[in-house]
This record gives sequence, structure tokens and C-alpha cells, in this order.
Amino acid sequence: MPRPPLLPVTAALSGAALLLTACGGVGDAARPDGENGVIGIAMPTQSSERWIDDGDNMVAEFEDRGYGTDLQYAEDIVEDQVAQIENMITRGVDALVIASIDGEALGDVLDMADDSDIPVIAYDRLIMGSEHVDYYATFDNFEVGVLQGQYIVDTLDLENEDGPFNIELFGGAPDDNNAYFFNDGAMSVLQPHIDEGTLEVPSGQTSMEQIATTRWDGSIAQSRMDNLLSANYSDDEVHAVLSPFDGISLGVIESLRAVGYATEEQPLPVTTGQDADLSSVRSIVAGEQTQTVFKDTRALASQTVDMAEALLNDEEVPVNDTESYDNGVQVVPSFLLEPVSVDLDNYHEVLVEGGYYEESELE
Ligand code: GAL
Repeated sequence: MPRPPLLPVTAALSGAALLLTACGGVGDAARPDGENGVIGIAMPTQSSERWIDDGDNMVAEFEDRGYGTDLQYAEDIVEDQVAQIENMITRGVDALVIASIDGEALGDVLDMADDSDIPVIAYDRLIMGSEHVDYYATFDNFEVGVLQGQYIVDTLDLENEDGPFNIELFGGAPDDNNAYFFNDGAMSVLQPHIDEGTLEVPSGQTSMEQIATTRWDGSIAQSRMDNLLSANYSDDEVHAVLSPFDGISLGVIESLRAVGYATEEQPLPVTTGQDADLSSVRSIVAGEQTQTVFKDTRALASQTVDMAEALLNDEEVPVNDTESYDNGVQVVPSFLLEPVSVDLDNYHEVLVEGGYYEESELE
């Protein structure tokens, strides 16, 4: 009898994991309950690597500490995320960790969680408009924006050069509270230079309504950049792009490349980003995207597991900010981790020596 082809163990396992993820729903949870209980982990999408890492890191840490996990991704479909959380509640998870898609859409399902006494930790993104968000684990989101804005100021040397330099601004998803923190942080640094005229925004588009990017979608940013370039840059050049997220940065760079940037005569503008996604770090190494903001998903996962464990054991939950994150109903006690600006000069030290990527992955 012919033997079935041998699959490498990892391929076989990831195939199984994919199947389980695709099924979703009650009883399909990838892992059994642990001796200390089970944690429902609702993540937004697998379209950006960071959320895959966030999910995997949390599963590993929770399992190490004796918890089972039910990890679900909703591929940016709000109704699916709500249904997944409902299923976790029905199944009787002991706690929920949620990175929301639409921060405003979870009020009813969190009422349900509260009826079943299930505590909730908002992960990375604040859940808005609900009194049933117990804690928030995230990075200092205002600081992320400051790092992006300051990178543009330093790279264009705006303290010494008169310019004027041309910049276009991109914002994140309008239903993600983080998008406003990133933009406020960046504009706290850039606005004074716009006011004094060393930076100009030729499109005139500066408000969040004008610059937001639905679902953080890089292809939407790419089309918007196409329009900005054809309407405002027929005989002018872009010198900087404020991008709040790597997926957006890569969309913008594609748009610029299509009209002749990324050559010696017409170099790409200074372009910021966020997440240190593999494709963007490769782009930085290749000299295209200029900067990203690294938020170590290992640290965020660990912090969240510490908080969940303390919460479930009635111990004091570690927080370091009890003022900044008002979800419209309450100020949610938070733990903010420190983001790090990364570019060609320090990617090796931060990402390779830090064990996040292998150098060989980055070429
Ligand atoms: C934000 C998050 C960023 C980025 C973005 C798009 O909420 O803080 O790190 O991942 O979503 O996924």
C-alpha cells in the first residue's frame, strides 16, 4: 500500500489550525479547557501579521499558565466578531480578551458578558461606550503618533531648514479609537511646522474626516494617494507622508511608484508606519518605507495574560494609567507599554537582536 506523503509537523499543525479557525463557533475551539479555566480571545483579522502574532503569543502564554483558549478571528466583519464573542459567552469562558474591529459595536454583547459575570480586557484597541470593559492593555498610542511626527521633523531637519516641504497625511480607521490618539500625537509635533509654513499640505486635507482610512485598508489608502497625486502634484513633489500603519504605508508607496517615484531622480518621500510588519521591515531594509513604530506583541500578550490572571484570582491588576482612556462611559484603567521608532539605522538592534525577526527573513 502506498504510504501517505509525509507532511512536516508544522505544516500539518497549521493546516489543522486553519481548519479550526475557519469553522469558528461553539465547540470548535482549537484547545480544551485548561485546569485554570478558559479564555476567549477575539481578534480582528489575519490580514495583518501583527494580529496573528498577538493571538499566537497569548495562546502560548495562557496555556503555559494552565488556561485553555478559544481564539477567533473575524476578518474585519463586525457582525462575525459579535457572533464569535456571543459563542464564547455561551460556551462559558472565564474571561474575554477582545481587540475590537468597530470599537462602538460591542455594547450589547458586553452586556451579555456582564450578565454571565465574565470580565473583559480590551486588547490594544479600546472598546467604546460600554461600562463592562474592566481593563485595557495597550501601548502608549499618543506616543506612537509623536514618534511618527518627530521622525518626519528630524528627517527633513525642520528645525533648521525653511522648506517649504510638502506632506500628505493619512489617518487610521475612523471606528478605531487608536486612530485619533495616533493622529493627535503626530499632529502635536507637525502642526507647529504647518502653522509656521515650513510644512505644507498641498491637498489641504488635514481633518480626520478627510484623511481616515476605513478598516486600515492599504488599497483604500493607495486609491486616495492616486487621487491626491493627480489633483495636486502635476508639477510638484511629495516630501513626506504621515502614515499611521504599515499596510497604509505600503499602499501609498505603490501609488507613488506608479507615477515615477522610487528612482534616483525622484526618491520616495519620508514615509512613516506602525507595527514593524514583516513586509514593511523588508521595505525599510530595501530603502523604500522609511520608518515604522515597533510595538512588541510578545510584551503586550504577556502583559495581558498577567492582567487576566490577576483579575481571575482577585489580585490587584497591574495598571499604569488611570486617566487617559475614557470610553465615553468610564475611564478604563489601562496598562500602556512603550512603542519604539525603527528605521534602517536601528532595525537590526531592535528587531533582529531583539529576537523578533531573523536577518534572513528581511531580505
Ligand atoms: C490599530 C493598532 C495598530 C495597527 C492598526 C491596524 O488599532 O493599534 O498597531 O495594527 O490597528 O491593524
